Amino acid sequence: MKVLVIGATGGTGSHLLEQLFARGHEVRAMARREEQLEELRERGAEAVLGDLEGDIDHAVEGVDAVAFCAGSGSSTGPDKTLLVDLYGAARTIDACQQHGVRRYVMLSSIAAGDPLRGNEKIRHYLAAKHAADRILMCSDLDWTVVRPGGLTHDEATGAVELGLPQLPERGMIPRADVAAVMARCLEDPRSHGAAFELIGGDIPVDDVVDRLADASR
Ligand SMILES: NC(=O)c1ccc[n+]([C@@H]2O[C@H](COP(=O)([O-])OP(=O)(O)OC[C@H]3O[C@@H](n4cnc5c(N)ncnc54)[C@H](OP(=O)(O)O)[C@@H]3O)[C@@H](O)[C@H]2O)c1
Repeated sequence: MKVLVIGATGGTGSHLLEQLFARGHEVRAMARREEQLEELRERGAEAVLGDLEGDIDHAVEGVDAVAFCAGSGSSTGPDKTLLVDLYGAARTIDACQQHGVRRYVMLSSIAAGDPLRGNEKIRHYLAAKHAADRILMCSDLDWTVVRPGGLTHDEATGAVELGLPQLPERGMIPRADVAAVMARCLEDPRSHGAAFELIGGDIPVDDVVDRLADASR
């Protein structure tokens, strides 16, 4: 499968590249600056320039699946949250529909299902993620929405806790484990139509899609 990773230069996106290569997939990695492309190529990806505030159609055309791992980050203002996390994401969903790309895995956030549950300071961000998730979930794409807790740079543990749709409390999770779950969701149609929260826990990442399938029965 050929997967477009949006946000390939970021923490989780970078781990996702490794996961996808290790599992035998082709990767098209989108980055917004020319100087980022060479490293992505050295890692084995087809690297393309693309900015969520600009044209992204060429990046989407010709892939089998899209993994959205981008985000405007905490150092920018709410204007970028709207433009990147909401409108940018929405346009990638439109581009998938336009180019017949059916599979889409969204990296969202814990509490995006109900932004009023979230910390007041980041509610605008959670509302943007909520709206982007909803646009995806209302589309006819084969979607999965992954909503992790606080992301860490710790080593992968290989095990997680799932909240279907939500967890009783917040927690942290290594980016590497989130990427491992995203890779398995990309591959397995039994994850289509699932939106779930994710923190560190005891469920092996290899069993996550089984759990999603059991929960949907
Ligand atoms: N941090 C948390 O605790 C947390 C918790 C739950 C969910 N999340 C979600 O998870 C996402 C990924 O987090 P992360 O820490 O792994 O990511 P990250 O390291 O912050 O990387 C963000 C990625 O998005 C890219 N990006 C930003 N603006 C862009 C634009 N206009 N066009 C194209 N690409 C753009 C960045 O590109 P550059 O390299 O060019 O900057 C980078 O590749 C977050 O953005 C957030 O939505 C985060």
